[in-house]
Amino acid sequence: MKTTISIFILFLVTLGLQAEDGHHLWLRNKGNVPVNIVCSKNSVTINIAKEELQQGWQGKAGASVILTIKSDKTIKGDGFKLGANEIKANTELGILYGVYELLRRQQTGEAIKEEVINPSYERRVLNHWDNLNGTIERGYAGRSIFWRNGKDSLGVTEKDKMLWQEYARANASIGINGAVLNNVNASPLMLSGEYLARVKAIADVLRLYGVKTYLSVKFSSPAMLGGLKTSDPLDPEVIKWWKDKVQEIYRMIPDFGGFLVKASSEGQPGPQDFGRTHADGANMMADAVKPFGGIIMWRAFVYAANDKDRARQAYTEFMPLDGQFRDNVIIQVKNGPVDFQPREPFSPLFGAMKKTSIMPELQITQEYLGHSFQLVFLSTMWEECLQSDTYQEGAGSTVARCTDGSIFPQRHTAIAGVANIGLDANWCGHHFAQANWYAFGRLAWNDQLTSEKIADEWLKLSFYQTPVVKESESGSFSADWQEHFLVPVKQMMLQSREAAVNYSMPLGFHHIFAAEHHYGPGPWWGPKGVRIDWTPPYYHKADSIGVGFDRTHSGSDAVSQYHEPLSSQFNDLKTCPDIYLLWFHHLPWSYKMKSGRTLWDEICYHYDTGVREVQDFQKVWDKVQPYVDAKRFADVQSKLRRQCRDARIWKDGCLLYFQQFSRSPIPYDIERPVNDLNDLEKSDLKWGNHN
Ligand code: GCU
Repeated sequence: MKTTISIFILFLVTLGLQAEDGHHLWLRNKGNVPVNIVCSKNSVTINIAKEELQQGWQGKAGASVILTIKSDKTIKGDGFKLGANEIKANTELGILYGVYELLRRQQTGEAIKEEVINPSYERRVLNHWDNLNGTIERGYAGRSIFWRNGKDSLGVTEKDKMLWQEYARANASIGINGAVLNNVNASPLMLSGEYLARVKAIADVLRLYGVKTYLSVKFSSPAMLGGLKTSDPLDPEVIKWWKDKVQEIYRMIPDFGGFLVKASSEGQPGPQDFGRTHADGANMMADAVKPFGGIIMWRAFVYAANDKDRARQAYTEFMPLDGQFRDNVIIQVKNGPVDFQPREPFSPLFGAMKKTSIMPELQITQEYLGHSFQLVFLSTMWEECLQSDTYQEGAGSTVARCTDGSIFPQRHTAIAGVANIGLDANWCGHHFAQANWYAFGRLAWNDQLTSEKIADEWLKLSFYQTPVVKESESGSFSADWQEHFLVPVKQMMLQSREAAVNYSMPLGFHHIFAAEHHYGPGPWWGPKGVRIDWTPPYYHKADSIGVGFDRTHSGSDAVSQYHEPLSSQFNDLKTCPDIYLLWFHHLPWSYKMKSGRTLWDEICYHYDTGVREVQDFQKVWDKVQPYVDAKRFADVQSKLRRQCRDARIWKDGCLLYFQQFSRSPIPYDIERPVNDLNDLEKSDLKWGNHN
């Protein structure tokens, strides 16, 4: 009887769940409780803060909230002091961030006690890889929200402005305060008058929410756009060209953030074309933006085709330049030494460049982690990187502390995330990919947050339905909802990245994708004419003897770029963590693992575990149907089906391919491959297809 009643109640609840397309992100909930706001100031930002409070208040009806701007030394930058009924800050933006924090806590049921909440990084920036024709490099959620093709591509409509405002609000609600509007593979046209006019229109909207505008620039712009004979950074005319251009920009956008530069990298022009160094190039631009308070984010993503180990190159090229950069240059370093792989050890540049500001670059868009087809919560990956101990200034010198100003006196601190945002109704393609945007913002604000907390917040904000799951105004969620929705779905999110590593690149494998779409497996992929360091055999080095990239002292010696004790730890098989084994070592197929299995068997079990984890995710999701609106439920269900099919393809493709070298059976308790290697090899190019 009891079960029948519960089922009936669930049925009614499900009927009552409104279909949601995900457009409102984690900001879907409105409170309708009256609140009295006490604040003597009026300004655009303060008025937004007041409006947010009025629309989102879920505390006591008729309560008063005091907003005060007053200088307080314990508050840093746009931080704030929170109280149940009061927010104090040094800046207007601090008030706005405080309001979002207060509302989030009300909605998620987190305790609101008096505390100072300061941001970890001064600049928390999204990098959009958007092209001026509206396509997005590595974008999987539709076309650009900033740029479009066609006749009226530069006209600014009310609809554009509305969308930019929604975007800015979402960013501000999680503390993101900067946006680079275009691809790092930048077009010189970006700096032309007509495009800058559109940048100004975007900046005018983003500014309302404290989001500063930045641009990616092409190093050869002086020649390509300005018609100069050279783009040599030491040439007086080139220096003048940049100064003039910068002045033009600041006349239009007085709070412009600065430039992001990909130079002498992957075929992009750079100072090395003129026999100059990265420091020469970066400093020249830094001098141009300095009088206006701008910064240069100079990327360290460099590698040459003829080098024996791509993972070593950024360190080799940048370390000798430590101390040579202006204080408004920040070197932007990808989390790992290769390229946003499902798992990499942290980049050895973190903590090593002690006299240079360094900022981590994370990738929110899932280029190497399933595009928008797969549910992969990236927060755990970023947490792993940020909490990695570099030992550069003794134990506890984590990547987070080496970059957020806790250890080194950086003039500026920053963190970047490559955005996963496009014109799709739900912004990110996959509903759960919104959690990655959210997680980036939250970690950029507080680099000590746990992924568990971030997932918990995001699920509560994105999936609860008032009043269905809330028991009272105190914000406590019903036990039923927590047990049957929150707990299992959170667990699925927290496990999802490890599952992806298991079914695609376990035990330190990396970059074994087919073709350039970076979606499906392709350990075999290596067509003639393609740069060798863009092909998987360069990375896995499988042969009849064994597999893995030897980066030990007797191999490429990349281990030496890490500070002790890591260097020895990674070098020694006895102490190298299994998760990095094939990253640092080339080992025989019969190598005995810590588990007692052979390496070959261990590889097989990891792939199999990954597939089974996704099958379990499907079960988790099917079971939560009563708690999710029909649209989002069906969308996620369908994507999980594809993820499961593709995880099997990864497992079959990799195991059948590597088996040709290991010449050992796949352990018999593992489900047999259901795909033929030949067929998989032929379908290489199809997997990245988004049509
Ligand atoms: C990766 C990615 C490219 C991108 C590059 C970068 O290699 O595949 O599309 O341009 O990273 O970060 O610059």
